[in-house]
Amino acid sequence: MLRLGVNIDHVATLRNARGSAYPDPVRAAKLAEEAGADGITAHLREDRRHIVDADIDALMEALSVPLNFEMAATEEMQAIALRHKPHAVCIVPEKREERTTEGGLEVAREENKLAHYIAPLREAGCRVSIFIAADQAQIEAANRIGAEVIELHTGAYCDYHYEGRFEERDAELRRLTEMATFAHSLGLEVHAGHGLTYETVKPIAALPEIMELNIGHFLMGESIFRGLKPAIQEMRRLMDDARA
Ligand code: PXP
Repeated sequence: MLRLGVNIDHVATLRNARGSAYPDPVRAAKLAEEAGADGITAHLREDRRHIVDADIDALMEALSVPLNFEMAATEEMQAIALRHKPHAVCIVPEKREERTTEGGLEVAREENKLAHYIAPLREAGCRVSIFIAADQAQIEAANRIGAEVIELHTGAYCDYHYEGRFEERDAELRRLTEMATFAHSLGLEVHAGHGLTYETVKPIAALPEIMELNIGHFLMGESIFRGLKPAIQEMRRLMDDARA
């Protein structure tokens, strides 16, 4: 089965825009569970622009489904992850000035450092996932450092779609397809995410090697019009259709 992880970061973005106590990302996470989410994803950024430390405490307390804790490879984040021991930890690149996680992690260049970085997380029982572009050298490096999971960055594929650059979109989809197969052949569990929408999800959901999609920003926007549960249920339906 293809799992759906719902990313609730942007409920916190809306809350923090006014410095208010609402909307509550934990309430959104519980609704997402009711709508059929198989997991909840949250990114605790260094600048705390959306999710804050207290949200992670509250999510760990409240969730019935696994938490996928997205974080940069910093000492601060490692300590937080080791304190909470979430089901999964996804290591992402992070730059303060970027609007979102714009590219995949440079694993190949930082191999030794990352191998040491993830070892205690694995020992603590977290499934370690590495967020990377569809690039063979990065996948091989992720495998060598001992990651169990890779998450393929679908942002470029989605951007090309909405920019009407369909040849480049299709080329990126071919790369994602080949690299999902390649990573699977190495024994890695393959996830994908970033920028996925109702229009772009099906070709990715149809890839048989992919076990999980993590989707947030579009779902939170769509929930303004449909409500959160129906927005998630429609995504789930499209994913199941693509797999059938
Ligand atoms: N996966 C990873 C590793 C991410 O960093 C993000 C964005 O935080 C997502 C999935 C979800 O992306 P989006 O919010 O664009 O659906």
